[in-house]
Amino acid sequence: MTLDLPPAEHPAAKRPDLDSSAGNGMHLPAPVLVAKDLRVTYPNGFTALESFTLDVRPGEVVALLGHSGSGKSTFMKAATGMAPASATQLTIDGQDVIGASGADMRRLRSKVGYVFQHFNLVPQLSALTNVLTGGLHDAGPANALGFFPRRQRERALELLDRVGLADKARQRADSLSGGQQQRVAIARALMQEPRIILADEPVASLDPRLAGSVLRLMRRIAREDGIPVVVSLHVVDLAVRYADRFIALEAGQVRHTGSVEALTPDMVTDIYGQESEDDEEH
Ligand SMILES: Nc1ncnc2c1ncn2[C@@H]1O[C@H](COP(=O)(O)OP(=O)(O)O)[C@@H](O)[C@H]1O
Ligand SMILES: [Mg+2]
Repeated sequence: MTLDLPPAEHPAAKRPDLDSSAGNGMHLPAPVLVAKDLRVTYPNGFTALESFTLDVRPGEVVALLGHSGSGKSTFMKAATGMAPASATQLTIDGQDVIGASGADMRRLRSKVGYVFQHFNLVPQLSALTNVLTGGLHDAGPANALGFFPRRQRERALELLDRVGLADKARQRADSLSGGQQQRVAIARALMQEPRIILADEPVASLDPRLAGSVLRLMRRIAREDGIPVVVSLHVVDLAVRYADRFIALEAGQVRHTGSVEALTPDMVTDIYGQESEDDEEH
């Protein structure tokens, strides 16, 4: 699917609401992810996320903001059944997450492309083979032995080309720079033809210039393929530059949410405090 609208005019980008139940009458594509009143209480009794409501539609980039420990990774895990969740609704591509198991859970997880802070590539394998492993959810016996059909290899090469790494296909993952490794990880996520990408602090280990290029790539994928991205970020500036909307967590609660244009300095202070100013007082 290709969305022809320029980024600023994407209908979902201007939505004031985050709740699919609002029924605002606009002709928006159906949300890919719906979380309504999501709550996660870990087995030790700690509630890491509460009253969390968010819907994510094709083409948009939603930034998840908040201090370390505020519940960002918990949301990402809950979305694929990897944290103990309850909710009025939690669906991906219309499929219930809560209660899913076996083949249903595998199908659900195949719809979600994960991108992690530390890339999680297999270091000794080539960039190409790392991308090919993204397609393993529909693996046949040949895949398991490390043989991939020509069709899959061609697609993996196309994806490496798309992320700007066609010339690095044969290079070992651990010989690539951090930014290049994250691009391989994005290509790997695309290999599984996901309906949504969840990126958990994908640029936290990268210098600012590379961070920008990785986020620009994810936004392009959202726009061109309609695959929405939920991305947790530490730097508000990056959210303003590359996301459409934000949702800011504090201690498991949604503190602020809206379009990134509406993010005010007061909100930023409220979300992240004034640590840098405090430091300057000494
Ligand atoms: N398996 C777990 N059991 C108990 N508490 C957890 C578990 N995983 C995370 N937490 C707690 O939940 C809170 C949110 O964690 P997390 O979602 O990882 O935050 P973030 O990604 O925003 O840094 C933290 O206080 C963390 O210690
Ligand atoms: Mg985290």
